[in-house]
Amino acid sequence: MCMLEKIIILDFGSQTTQLIARRLRELNVYCEIVPYNKFPADDKSVTGVILSGSPLSTCDKEAFKLDLSPIRKKFPLLGICYGAQLIASEAGGHVEKGDSREYGRAKLHVSTKKDILMSGVKNGAQVWMSHGDTITVLPQKFTVIAGTDDVFAAAFHIDNEPTWGVQFHPEVYHTEPGTIILNNFLTICNAKRNWTPASFVETTVNNLKTSLNDDKVILALSGGVDSSVCAVLLNKAIGKNLTCIFVDNGLLRKNEFETVLSDYKHIGLNVVGIDASDDFYNELANIKDPEQKRKIIGKGFIDVFEREARRITGVKWLAQGTIYPDIIESLSITGMTIKSHHNVGGLPDKMNLQLVEPLKLLFKDEVRRVGRELGMKDVLVKRHPFPGPGLGVRILGDVTREKVKILQEADHIFIQSLREKNLYDTVWQAGAVLLPINSVGVMGDERTYENVIALRAVTSTDAMTADWAHLPYDFLASVSNEIINHVRGVNRVVYDISSKPPSTIEWE
Ligand code: XMP
Repeated sequence: MCMLEKIIILDFGSQTTQLIARRLRELNVYCEIVPYNKFPADDKSVTGVILSGSPLSTCDKEAFKLDLSPIRKKFPLLGICYGAQLIASEAGGHVEKGDSREYGRAKLHVSTKKDILMSGVKNGAQVWMSHGDTITVLPQKFTVIAGTDDVFAAAFHIDNEPTWGVQFHPEVYHTEPGTIILNNFLTICNAKRNWTPASFVETTVNNLKTSLNDDKVILALSGGVDSSVCAVLLNKAIGKNLTCIFVDNGLLRKNEFETVLSDYKHIGLNVVGIDASDDFYNELANIKDPEQKRKIIGKGFIDVFEREARRITGVKWLAQGTIYPDIIESLSITGMTIKSHHNVGGLPDKMNLQLVEPLKLLFKDEVRRVGRELGMKDVLVKRHPFPGPGLGVRILGDVTREKVKILQEADHIFIQSLREKNLYDTVWQAGAVLLPINSVGVMGDERTYENVIALRAVTSTDAMTADWAHLPYDFLASVSNEIINHVRGVNRVVYDISSKPPSTIEWE
C-alpha cells in the first residue's frame, strides 16, 4: 500500500469541519478528519494539524480540552475559532464570553509586520466570523497578525514556532482570503499537492489489484453515482472478477432499468440485471405505513441480491460505494457518537464476505470528479440522488403497479423538462410524488375526480438542509400542462415550496 501524506483535522464538533477538509482537498492536499481526542501521534504521514471550531465555549466546564504537547512545535498547527481560543487559553491567555455573539462579515486589518500565513491577504478583506467568545489577553510570545473592528486578535502567530490561530473561518466561502490563508498554511506544512482524481484512480487501482488479487467481488448497483463509480473503478482493477447485480424492484423511474443497464454494459461492466418487480409489488400490497414499506423494500432487495450472489461461486468480497461523510466519526455535544456505518443489511456477515469500499475517503463532489476521470458519461456522474426505496416512498399510501405507472409518467415529464431547459444540474434532486387523494377537475364538459401530483425540487449541498428550488413559473406551468394533458388519471399538479428543516426532501 502506498502511504499518502496527510493533514489531520481535529474535530471539535463544528458544522464547518467537513468544509475545512473539502477546501484542503480542492487544493489537492489529502487530509483526514478525526475526533479531537484521537490524534494519531504515531502516524508518520502527518504533515500538519488543524484544530476545528466548536459549538462549545472554551470557558465552559464541559469544553473539549486537549493537551497540545504532542502537537505544538512538532507539527505546523492552525487553530480555527475554538481551535485558536484553545491554543491561547492552554498557553495561559484569556478567553472571555462575549456580551454579544459575533456572526457574519468583518473586515480584516492585516498587521504591517509581514507574516507568512497572511502573505497575499489584502488589508480590508472580508472574513466570516461566528463566535461567542473572544481572546482578550494573548500569552507571551503570541503576536497579533490581524485584527477586526471588534476583535484585536483575529489572527495570531506564536514566535519561533509553526503555530497560528485565526478567530474567523477561512474554510467558509464568504471569507474572501480563505483559500489564500489555507494555501499558505499548506505551504508552511510543505504539503504535497498530489491529491487529484488521476492520482486517486492510479493509487486505488494499484491497491485494489494487490489486495484483491484474483478474488471474486460482487457489488449491488443502484443506478446512483456512488455505486456506479465504485463499479467502474473496480472494473478497471479486476475486470471480469467483478460481478455487479442490478435489481429492478419495480420502483425505479420510467425506463431506468433498461437504460441504466445498457449504460453499464456499454461501459464494459459485467452486470446481471434481475427483474424482481412482481415480488416487490406482491409484498407491498395494501401496505400504507412508510417505515413498513421501507423495511419490505430493503428486505426484498437483500433476498434477491443474496439469491443471485450465491449463484456466483467463490465470491470473497462485497464491494460498496460508501463515501467519506458516511464514515466520518461525528461528534455530538451530548458525547461522542459514532455514525453507524451502513452495510447492505448486514450482508457481509451473513454471507461471510469481506468488505471493499474504495470510495470511503471521498466526498460526493470528489466521487463525481473521479467518475469523470474514469471517462464516465455525465448522465451517470451527474445523476440526482434517488432514495433506495425509490418510488415506493413517493407514492403516499399503498403501492400498486398502476400507481407506479402514473407516477413514472409524471416524473419522466418533469425530469425530461428539467434536462431540456438546462435546469437539471441547477437542482440537487427533483421528482414527482403521487398524493393519496383525488381532486375535482373539469376536462372538456366533464367533471373529473382524479389524482394529484406534487412536484418536488430542492437545492442543497449535502441533503442535510435543503431549500425548495425557485424554478421559473413558466417552466412549472408548462410541466403542469404537459402532465395533466398526457398522464391519464391526473387532473391537478402542485409544487412543494417547503424547505428542510422543518420539512424533509421526501414526503414519506
Ligand atoms: P430526507 O427526505 O430525509 O432525504 O430529507 C434526504 C436524502 O436521503 C434520501 N432518502 C433516502 N435514501 N433510503 C435512501 O437510500 C431511504 O429510505 C431514504 N429516504 C430519503 C432522499 O432522497 C434525500 O436525497
